[in-house]
Amino acid sequence: MNDQTSEAPAADPMAEMHASLRPYSGKLDVHTNLPSHGLPRDQVLAEIEEMAAAERDRWQSGHSSGAVYQGDSEHIDFLNRVYALQSQNNPLHLDIWPSGSKFEAEIVAMTAAMLNSAKAGCEIVGTVSSGGTESIMLAMKAYRDRGIERDGFDRPRVVAPASAHVAFDKAAQYFQIDLVRVPVGDDWRADVQAMAAQINDQTVALVGSAPGFPHGMIDPIEELAALAHERGIGMHVDGCLGGFVLPWAEKLGYEVPPFDFRLPGVTSMSCDTHKFGYAAKGTSVVLYRDPELLHHQFFTATEWPGGIYCSPTFAGSRPGGLSAACWAALVSIGEEGYMRATKAILESAAAIKAGIGEIDELEVIGDPLFCVAFRATGDDLDIYRVMDAMSERGWSLNGLHHPQAVHICVTLRQTQPGVADRFTADLRESIAEVKDEPAKEGGMAPLYGMAATLPEREMVSSFLKFYMDMWFKP
Ligand SMILES: Cc1ncc(COP(=O)(O)O)c(C=O)c1O
Repeated sequence: MNDQTSEAPAADPMAEMHASLRPYSGKLDVHTNLPSHGLPRDQVLAEIEEMAAAERDRWQSGHSSGAVYQGDSEHIDFLNRVYALQSQNNPLHLDIWPSGSKFEAEIVAMTAAMLNSAKAGCEIVGTVSSGGTESIMLAMKAYRDRGIERDGFDRPRVVAPASAHVAFDKAAQYFQIDLVRVPVGDDWRADVQAMAAQINDQTVALVGSAPGFPHGMIDPIEELAALAHERGIGMHVDGCLGGFVLPWAEKLGYEVPPFDFRLPGVTSMSCDTHKFGYAAKGTSVVLYRDPELLHHQFFTATEWPGGIYCSPTFAGSRPGGLSAACWAALVSIGEEGYMRATKAILESAAAIKAGIGEIDELEVIGDPLFCVAFRATGDDLDIYRVMDAMSERGWSLNGLHHPQAVHICVTLRQTQPGVADRFTADLRESIAEVKDEPAKEGGMAPLYGMAATLPEREMVSSFLKFYMDMWFKP
């Protein structure tokens, strides 16, 4: 048993963090060695059910930003049945499971069709990956390798707005890409002129988001794609968050600027099935206009003693069961189901946006469709303390910085009756509480405060590494 953390002093942020990672200390056994004899399956299931039950309400009730995008019990049971039927499926062994190829090829085709592949004037190709980060990293690796192998570049460059997902930084770090981050404009969208000024002779691609994670704003993809086309470079549209929302929003009559393969300059896209595609966690799609660019993503080995080998993404063995469940989500929901879901989400998001707009102390950042960021209108209100007060009321919101703000990404969970109203009522109460009370110890506010003020960014990074050390220590 490891229950030291429950006695940690509340004011120590690391101790508090460890306690938050180990709420089951003292309640459930801690295994640091394999049990000498396997535990009875009933006991194992009971422990897992205990944790699932303790965690269920937070995401099911609609209090969590993003995280669970569908969450209806019948839908989850259906996906679980599909997974159970295909849990052994590994697309590395297509001779045993040709179904793995069928599922993945059709997921790619359906996603590409949704993103207007028919109007691209060529076949759109791609693969299934494990999530948005992998899709982005695969695309960045493909551009980098093409830059090196075809164009002879030494240090391929990618130009992205500051608001593009951090996965682009991860790709730059892993693959030694020269990533240039360009501040967004006053409208919180990519600044096309400023990005144009950063294109040099080693530039392989521009990036735009539809929409971006922080403020939910859709970048001027049409202009960025035209710029990329004119300069003869690639343009990656990150549709991880919006890929399964914007096509339906457009059909519903919302104002959605063109963002997909209709634009000749768009050469690749990432689009997450495990977000608004309503699949189980662990799948995403990366798409390319040019099959040769996809080939720079692929790995092949012809001389390995283990045989001739090929692998389309980063992993070797892959969970074909997740692809089966993803395929099942897409075909069981269909266009009509996605339209209905999108309508409900956009209406709830509009209600939440309007609710925030009526609170004097807050302002919505930009003009988002469904991922709504807000900040304090005056310096006298600490938005992170408001976020902490919301956490105490059961909410799990996302803290943002540069500028200090918080967002809620509206999913089907927030379309349940009463959730949008509860959100604004709790927000009003939280603001009143923060204004009335002196700063409390604990919570995220001191951590965000520290992260914002520490001049030495390496210290913030070390702190995060320490947190990840803790994550994997029982
Ligand atoms: C716009 C955007 N891109 C990429 C990602 C990364 O996706 P994942 O967390 O599945 O790796 C996210 C995640 O929220 C996102 O919002």
